[in-house]
Amino acid sequence: KFTPRVFSGAQPSGNLHLGNYLGALRNWVRMQGSDYQTIYCMVDLHAITVWQDPKELQHATRELCAGYIASGLDPEKSILFNQSQVPEHAQLAWIFNCVARLGWMQRMTQFKDKAGKNAQNASLGLFAYPALMAADILVYHATHVPVGDDQKQHLELTRDIATKFNHDYGVDFFPLTEPVIKGAATRVMSLRDGSKKMSKSDPSDMTRINMTDDADTIAKKIRKAKTDPDALPSEVDGLDNRPEARNLVNIYAALSDQTADQVLADVGGKQFGEFKPMLADLAVAKLSPISTEMARLMGEEAEIDRILANGAEKARAIAAPILQQTYDIVGM
Ligand code: ADP
Ligand code: NA
Repeated sequence: KFTPRVFSGAQPSGNLHLGNYLGALRNWVRMQGSDYQTIYCMVDLHAITVWQDPKELQHATRELCAGYIASGLDPEKSILFNQSQVPEHAQLAWIFNCVARLGWMQRMTQFKDKAGKNAQNASLGLFAYPALMAADILVYHATHVPVGDDQKQHLELTRDIATKFNHDYGVDFFPLTEPVIKGAATRVMSLRDGSKKMSKSDPSDMTRINMTDDADTIAKKIRKAKTDPDALPSEVDGLDNRPEARNLVNIYAALSDQTADQVLADVGGKQFGEFKPMLADLAVAKLSPISTEMARLMGEEAEIDRILANGAEKARAIAAPILQQTYDIVGM
């Protein structure tokens, strides 16, 4: 029986947050099981596209692994490993750097966002990031990639790279990968205001709900979330032009496995003063068991290192033959 492969990852560049959990991790856990072979990575090579303190990078990599496991990933069911420990990612990325076109990269909105006004000063790695991401996925011939909405454009580029490689070498070798963007909160926005996504790489955002936050901190951040002065709309009025309300309702919907409309059917007409404590209770109930488990796992560093080493070995067993076949196709 052909078992389709799932690949995804997150950067050890700071704290895992509610957006990572609702947009990505939760779906990773749901895909774990007999229908797919699941491979989940800590993408440290991506993290260093902006400078990381070496000690903190190492700590964040372990903490990310703890976050994966505490969220429900099981090292017996999924391959969990650190990207730099499987050199085939970087090796295939070089080939993809030679397949991808400069113009494709120049269209990537994430690069524009992250590089900001001073793009000439961004690292070359930050610019080439999507080619490495394509290699992360395709070095396993992964067919499904569960991610948040912000990764949609990079996954289209992954398909473009696979298509061009197959065409340039006259082969049908790399599959066309499907993004899996699922749930009511595929793009969680900052609680500071609804204009920017919640992100690890925004250290100035003190409103970000981190997976390591304790119950009081989570509740406090939700209480302080920016909102507009109106009551929550009915299902009929909807959430158009209500970005902060939409964000909180989407978070509530995702945490309670409902659609935003189902939530509005219940809470439409309520004031935020009533809705926020409901949301805080729900968020604490779902997230604090995870943060407690993360803290426990962080007390077992050797166990995390063992899991990562073991995962890297399993990952290499898949990636090495695919890289070798790629070299053969290319004539190397
Ligand atoms: P970040 O952007 O916070 O640094 P990563 O780049 O490590 O996070 O992304 C890890 C996963 O989390 C990706 O699948 C990404 O699409 C998802 N993700 C990141 N931020 C959000 C968000 N605010 N809402 C939903 N999903 C998100
Ligand atoms: Na991201």
